[in-house]
Amino acid sequence: PYPHYEAMRETAPVFHDEQTGMWQVFKYDDVHRVLSEHATFSSQRPDDDQSETGRLFAASLINTDPPRHRQLRSLVSQAFTPKAVDALAPRIAEITEELLDAFAPAGTADLVKELAYPLPVIVIAELMGIPAEDRDRFKLWSDAIVSTVTGDQGESGHALHGEMIEYFLSMIEQRRRTPGHDLISALLAAEIDGQQLTVPELLGFCALLLVAGNETTTNLIGNAVLTFTEHPGTVERLLAEPELLPHAIEEVLRYRSPVQAMYRAAAAETMLGDQSIPAGSVLIAWIGSANRDPRQFERAEEYDVDRPPFHHLAFGQGVHFCLGAPLARLEARIALQAVLARLPGISVLAEPPLERVDSTIVFGPKQLPVTWQQA
Ligand code: HEM
Repeated sequence: PYPHYEAMRETAPVFHDEQTGMWQVFKYDDVHRVLSEHATFSSQRPDDDQSETGRLFAASLINTDPPRHRQLRSLVSQAFTPKAVDALAPRIAEITEELLDAFAPAGTADLVKELAYPLPVIVIAELMGIPAEDRDRFKLWSDAIVSTVTGDQGESGHALHGEMIEYFLSMIEQRRRTPGHDLISALLAAEIDGQQLTVPELLGFCALLLVAGNETTTNLIGNAVLTFTEHPGTVERLLAEPELLPHAIEEVLRYRSPVQAMYRAAAAETMLGDQSIPAGSVLIAWIGSANRDPRQFERAEEYDVDRPPFHHLAFGQGVHFCLGAPLARLEARIALQAVLARLPGISVLAEPPLERVDSTIVFGPKQLPVTWQQA
């Protein structure tokens, strides 16, 4: 998508797409505004969105504006602070090691299928108190919802969607009877102004945590392995200076953003760049383009581990800033550290040609066949 973004930033940075009626936004400053000015650019879904996913997420955090948004967010934010998340590090490391134990001493494997895909699912499933035997279904549901968000849902997506709701409803009922130390139990116990969350709100929360955290983190890990191996010397540098890894991951978030775009709706008529956006318009803020805008980043099209500290928009900006960012960063750091240590001389196989995840919003390799040498 990058040559397209560049062309749009230069020729039509705020572009009215006649076909869809949506406004597409490509420059860093404009994307920053659209994501953060929540009074002008609302996250609320349009009332006419009666799709299954539209209804499921209507009451959820990501589609709510302040002041309701702040109340909802406060219910779960405790579970996702850097401190709370750091406590998960030993368990994340253990899961990572188990997944890597299945790799041969030397050989080839699909790093997405064997590591980047299962790791975030297992972690979020454990946080939500989902039994281990249900995890595979869990992942299928998350994929099905991601494909509805992108509009290419098939028949099976329909069935999976219904199955997921049934499953969460039964989990909610079970936790109501016997609470545990998991997020679902915490949400059940929570109150806003003396009111408990409704069942649709609880369902929306469960589905959001499932979708928001899985494919995104999978893609971050996949994009990082791809980027490190494409840039000669990077793997060696990171092995020699492991303290560089967090910054190297931030640069991957900028360079290949796992979430390329987010939607908003104009609450009132407003100017953006030199365009007047009518009230009610839907906007797509292209995060992937903002993060390559040369007005904001020198040599924006280059991956550079030594780039001075910078501010990317990969986790969004403002009140909706990714709740799971500390968790995603921690999972990526642990997974990538282990990959570098346990798969020496790792490189990505050129054949078959890499396929990308089939979505305009979520961005990463579908498979990542890698090879390595014996330690
Ligand atoms: C919000 C990206 C991982 C949970 C967001 C937003 C972005 C984003 C761009 C802002 C949406 C908006 O402004 O409308 C990412 C990326 C991830 C990642 C790139 C991985 C690399 C996670 C994880 C979780 C999570 C691991 C949870 C387990 C959420 C939630 C929101 C959110 C709940 C909504 C927050 C709100 O509306 O207040 N994420 N995310 N994300 N993310 Fe993430």
